[in-house]
Amino acid sequence: MAITTPTGREITAENGVRPDVRRDSLSVVDNRTGQTYELPVTNETLNALDLRQIKMAPGDFGLMSYDPAFANTAATKSAITYIDGEKGILRYRGYPIEQLAEQSSYLEVAYLLLLGELPTAAQLAAWRAEITHHTILHENIKRLMEAFRYDADSMGMFISTVAALSTFYPEAHRVHDPDVRLLQIKRLVAKVPTIAALSYRHSLGLPYNYPSNELSYTGNFLQMLFRMTDAPYAPNPVLERALDVLFILHADHEQNCSTSAMRVIGSSLADPYSALAGAAAALSGPLHGGANEEVLRMLQEIGSIAMVPAFLDQVRKGERLLMGFGHRVYKSYDPRARIVKRLADEVFEVTGRNPLLDIALEVERIALVDEYFVKRKLYPNVDFYTGLIYQAMGLPVAMFPVLFAIPRTSGWLAHWLEAASDPTQRIARPRQVYTGPDARVYLPLAERS
Ligand code: CMC
Repeated sequence: MAITTPTGREITAENGVRPDVRRDSLSVVDNRTGQTYELPVTNETLNALDLRQIKMAPGDFGLMSYDPAFANTAATKSAITYIDGEKGILRYRGYPIEQLAEQSSYLEVAYLLLLGELPTAAQLAAWRAEITHHTILHENIKRLMEAFRYDADSMGMFISTVAALSTFYPEAHRVHDPDVRLLQIKRLVAKVPTIAALSYRHSLGLPYNYPSNELSYTGNFLQMLFRMTDAPYAPNPVLERALDVLFILHADHEQNCSTSAMRVIGSSLADPYSALAGAAAALSGPLHGGANEEVLRMLQEIGSIAMVPAFLDQVRKGERLLMGFGHRVYKSYDPRARIVKRLADEVFEVTGRNPLLDIALEVERIALVDEYFVKRKLYPNVDFYTGLIYQAMGLPVAMFPVLFAIPRTSGWLAHWLEAASDPTQRIARPRQVYTGPDARVYLPLAERS
């Protein structure tokens, strides 16, 4: 008799375990004490708290697990996004990213992530209308942004302004009220492009463009960024769609650094604006959402195809990172990078070819067959080609992380909502392995040498 496990493996007497004695558990022998423990296995996962029963003496704290970068620790159950990093699969609520990028709009995907199902036509129209009507910012927020220096970092302005929003919507702290939660979600999804556009116009000393209700989510964003006169603004449909697809690709990526930050901050019952500002701060680093900016700077620094081998030599020697390559979860080609690469061709048809593309293609060509990268399973990630598109659209490099934060807002909020509506949620509070000195005698200042 054979048994098939939830992951599809067949267990027979021949391959190790007698089916009649097989259990979903792990037997652990503590060689310090000779004690045996049976730890349940659920969803291919051990419950770390079960380790606590493993002790040398009754008064002991018990065993912990040590996983400093959460490389093998599931901190939550989630029904939002599925990734199979070995096979290069990404799905939002069960739908393959390729299909969503091909057939959906960003707002439709945001609805899917946040509310769990694809909207009907009527639901989508209502959602669009509601988001559109929340795009405007309080005039005091505009004034607050005017106070930044002319050369203020765009991501810094974005993070601070999102945090400031919590002071404009004090009811947002009622995180247990589903209606209040939904209202803040709509406000945030609607207002992040306005904040981003204002930061861009501020950096150029240009007057701010108010949102236009006639345009799509990304069309309006392009309008707020680029409209120069009072004449009606018609976004280029190819660029409008390309931006929408990029927004879909960036909308969620399960428990990454910034989403984990969102969940951790949210677990203290902080309001969603404060939590989202924290998530955006986590995104801003060069290893995460700041990577698209770094890729562009790196390609500019490489400068020509002829210089690619010398640059890759530095990477092999461990002197540099190849920005836009590698991923904690994807150990084969990032499915988003494949879509972005195709999208780049469509955008360059309109904008003209970004001269850095040839350098990027040469980097990828060499890296995909080079032993250093192959051995470490380093492939282009979503950020490798996005910067080239943004730059061709006329966006400054410093804005790139903000362009990541706008769509990720729906993903962050989906995770925040999932956690906030879970009655079993507790405050996040990791343990540590203390490595400092034992208790010491305090010496008054005069006695210290
Ligand atoms: N260039 C050169 N070597 C690399 C790179 C890279 N981009 N990424 C990883 N490695 C090496 C790393 O040094 C290590 O080598 P060794 O085994 O000899 O010590 C090995 O590959 C394994 O990598 P790791 O550091 O254990 O990987 P990680 O999971 O801790 O880090 C990462 C993942 C994305 C932070 C890292 O790959 C990286 O720094 N990439 C460049 C930054 C980047 O493109 N970030 C965007 C990620 S995708 C968008 C997002 O969701 O944020």
